[in-house]
Amino acid sequence: MNTMVVLSATAATELFKNHDLSFANRTITETMRAHGYDQGSLALAPYGSYWRVLRRLVTVDMIVTKRINETTSIRRKCVDDMLQWIEEESCKGGRGAGIHVSRFVFLMTFNLLGNLLLSRDLLDPESKAGSDFFDAMMGLMEWSGHANLADFFPWLRRLDLQGLRKKMERDLGKAMEIASKFVKERVEDKKVTNDSRKDFLDVLLEFRGIGKDEPDKLSERDLNIFILMKEDRVSEDEDNVAGAKSLGSQAKKEGRENSIPAEFEIDKGDNDTDEESNDPACDEIVSDMDYFRSEERMEIFMAGSETTSSTIEWALTELLCNPESMIRVKAELARVIRANKKVEESDMENLPFLQAVVKETLRLHPPIPFLVPRRAIQDTDFMGYHIPKNTQVLVNAWAIGRDPDAWDDPSCFMPERFIGTKVDYRGQNLEFIPFGAGRRICAGLPLAHRVLHLILGSLLHHFDWEFEANVNPASVDRKDRLGITVRKSEPLMAVPVKSNAV
Ligand code: HEM
Repeated sequence: MNTMVVLSATAATELFKNHDLSFANRTITETMRAHGYDQGSLALAPYGSYWRVLRRLVTVDMIVTKRINETTSIRRKCVDDMLQWIEEESCKGGRGAGIHVSRFVFLMTFNLLGNLLLSRDLLDPESKAGSDFFDAMMGLMEWSGHANLADFFPWLRRLDLQGLRKKMERDLGKAMEIASKFVKERVEDKKVTNDSRKDFLDVLLEFRGIGKDEPDKLSERDLNIFILMKEDRVSEDEDNVAGAKSLGSQAKKEGRENSIPAEFEIDKGDNDTDEESNDPACDEIVSDMDYFRSEERMEIFMAGSETTSSTIEWALTELLCNPESMIRVKAELARVIRANKKVEESDMENLPFLQAVVKETLRLHPPIPFLVPRRAIQDTDFMGYHIPKNTQVLVNAWAIGRDPDAWDDPSCFMPERFIGTKVDYRGQNLEFIPFGAGRRICAGLPLAHRVLHLILGSLLHHFDWEFEANVNPASVDRKDRLGITVRKSEPLMAVPVKSNAV
């Protein structure tokens, strides 16, 4: 497999400004083929109509700003639950005992997404499904992070010499089983309780086409696939193509697309229409309409929980290692949040240092350090090099965030570097791309932006944090563990002490 690696801010600028479309496909590795994951996934879908429909459903119907605003109380409740769990856990362990911070953040984010998708909490720290899912996710990370001989010598695929495909099948199967069970329960609950709350599942179930080429509603077979989680693939027939197109255009007709603020309206330009682009780079566009499979919802859970919990874990680790920043961020919170009040999303604009801490953490520790690997759609001349079609493209966001030509003291944790600048991670500043950039920028960015600040602000305001007795800034583990995402090699065990501020 030919591979091109983008390591500098200059090369990233060239790629995203001038060649984004040419590199808009994804590389599929052997482990990603487990359970046909690659075939139902939005993140791995080839650049084309299937990707466009799913992306639009997620960004227009699930993560649009209006919907995010409507769900503020859900996030509040999930964060309150998390603070409560942490308090209970710290009481159990006794004075000085650390808690596994990222596990609680993971469970909280999982519930938050569960509420957006399925109107219900899914996990709590005592639930077996919670720990099974967490363990399965750790496995997925591990297996996907190993270099796999089968990716370099495709004829070795069948032998699975390292057993990676088998392990991936096992852990992905477990995670999918848990996610599918939740969806089934939600559909059944709704039947008996007449619950009128509307969630993302309803958006899909209530879909009605209104154009002349569109079906009135999704065919029974489509709904079966969606509701009953059958694993059969939908063939590419006329109904499905029309159905997918109508899904995309429905939001347009309702005018909801206009509610996306400009900074989040990512898929601009002539390629983001319902028609296929005329650009020769799109020759390879695949029209694969077997959508609404369980992998899609799985993916939202995976994409959201793991990245968020890893970022919060690193933010706390860095703050514990850099006491001056910890003092400054806590002082800012104490000043802005009135006595006995909770941190609210509406406080964020008055918390510039907290925002800077989140940015600095994502600069040094982007949870998806190589972004999701891209693939060249066509032969491309890039910065004087000939890049053949199908070359794998790794954009090293980790190295770019530490590029000495773009950053002063790049390896130091200095949140103040962001104070007074407009540099942020929404894909315009290409020296800072923890969420990627261009057409395939993270679809969950607006939600992640809200959630990261709310969680970190709440954890810092509610508790004073310390290392466990035998750990100090010099001895704390600072290694990364590489997988689909990267997280701290050794989990942070930190001691929460209820703060006087609450
Ligand atoms: C700290 C939080 C997060 C980080 C750092 C992050 C980062 C990323 C990155 C780097 C990519 C690949 C971008 C590229 O290839 O240019 C990505 C893709 C994606 N992310 Fe996120 N993500 C986060 C949270 C979320 C959340 C909360 C969701 C959903 C609720 C989400 C859904 C997705 C999806 C669906 C894609 C695939 C987009 C596509 O291929 O078109 N992410 N994310």
